[in-house]
Amino acid sequence: MSGKMKPIPEAELKGYYEDAEKHLLKPWLTRPLPHRDPLIIGGKGARFYDAAGKEYLDFLSQLFNVSLGIGNRKVVEAVKEQVGKVNYTKNTFLNIPKILLAKRLAEITGGDLTRTFFSNSGTEANEAAFKIVRIYTGRFKVISLWNAYHGSTYASMSAGGVTSNRTPFEPLVPGFFHIPPPNCYRCAFGMKYPDCGMRCAKFLEDTIKFHGPETVAAFIADPVVVAAGVLVPPKEYWPMIREICDKYDILLILDEVIAGCGRTGKMFAHEHWNIYPDILILAKGLSNACVPLGATIMNEKIADFFQERKTFMHGFTYSGHALSCAAGLAAINAYIEDKIPENAAKVGEYLLDKLRGIQDRHKSIGDVRGLGLIESVEFVKDKTTKEPLAAKDPETPLEERPMVMLSDGCLEEGLLVMPTMAGSMIRISPPLIITEEDVDKAMEIFERQIARVEKKFL
Ligand SMILES: Cc1ncc(COP(=O)(O)O)c(C=O)c1O
Repeated sequence: MSGKMKPIPEAELKGYYEDAEKHLLKPWLTRPLPHRDPLIIGGKGARFYDAAGKEYLDFLSQLFNVSLGIGNRKVVEAVKEQVGKVNYTKNTFLNIPKILLAKRLAEITGGDLTRTFFSNSGTEANEAAFKIVRIYTGRFKVISLWNAYHGSTYASMSAGGVTSNRTPFEPLVPGFFHIPPPNCYRCAFGMKYPDCGMRCAKFLEDTIKFHGPETVAAFIADPVVVAAGVLVPPKEYWPMIREICDKYDILLILDEVIAGCGRTGKMFAHEHWNIYPDILILAKGLSNACVPLGATIMNEKIADFFQERKTFMHGFTYSGHALSCAAGLAAINAYIEDKIPENAAKVGEYLLDKLRGIQDRHKSIGDVRGLGLIESVEFVKDKTTKEPLAAKDPETPLEERPMVMLSDGCLEEGLLVMPTMAGSMIRISPPLIITEEDVDKAMEIFERQIARVEKKFL
């Protein structure tokens, strides 16, 4: 994308909106006219522009994925160069970007994660992982966390734990089971850290035993549970989970679709806890969203198993697309060369501090949490009872729900943030190139909108 573009005349713009209304089935929650989702015609870095000429500050990296900022030169140039060479090869043929990216991922992911299966999205990368763990272990059950999100196809949705995404499509895929996420603000076991002894991690062991370890193939989770409102587990959680998986010979899949590629202040989130998954899932920021890309990266034991069998009966027409892999390679190199995770760690601390300051000044903020540049603010009616600041009636129109009002109000003032699907939380996830000055600007708008929502709902 380029920078600011010439606005589109209102009559032409009206035509686009009417055509969109007639011909598009939009994803997730569709809001009919007169609500206007911005029609974007340009952007650069942390800013984007709509067709009416309005500027927005992107505190969501579009959808947690444009992590190097809109139009990152290195990624765009790599894709342009590749278009001039080979832009597609049959999925079983080789192309150079596919080989180079797989090799680069093996070099930088650590442990013995050495072999990658490429796809087009986080969902597809998880789907591949589910097939891999079933074939490799000969078992079929997968355990995951309530309120987590792993994608929107049948198996990834079944692994996901967001009730509103699941119920319209039930019955789901058999073999997927859930345990409560590590949520210290709303502990499912009614306990308090550290006296809890990490009951939530130990519950994985109980669940494996209840099911019979010989039936469980894998545990999957995102290291920082983003859909549940950016739950950052206590330091013991991931080492304990790793240990439990090892004890019962169960594979650990870490879904770093959001948490990977620098977002948490390290290149990969699992580096915070010195553990390695058996399968690492990357997507979103992996290609800076320039061209869709997903990666299922497996350890040597699993890789050898498939090498010996000489088959993995799975694939997509666009597995290992030359343009996606060229984008991925350029993006990965940019994260490292430009010290992007380091900026995420530094500015992330600054943003977290700012949010804690806002929390102190506002009675509707129950909790603030985050790691690097993935952060969340949880809103309550009362800090003592922790009653969520949510619409009581499930039929309440979207516009009248506090979190939608808050994010719509921010957007109106030119700031993009995102409510969670469940609960009363706003997620904040700017591009990792963001500056402290832009954080200041964004937080001014955010705080003003919090005051407006408090006035209406408290
Ligand atoms: C943790 C996690 N896993 C998987 C996915 C699915 O990725 P995609 O939308 O690229 O299919 C998402 C999407 O938001 C995600 O947040």
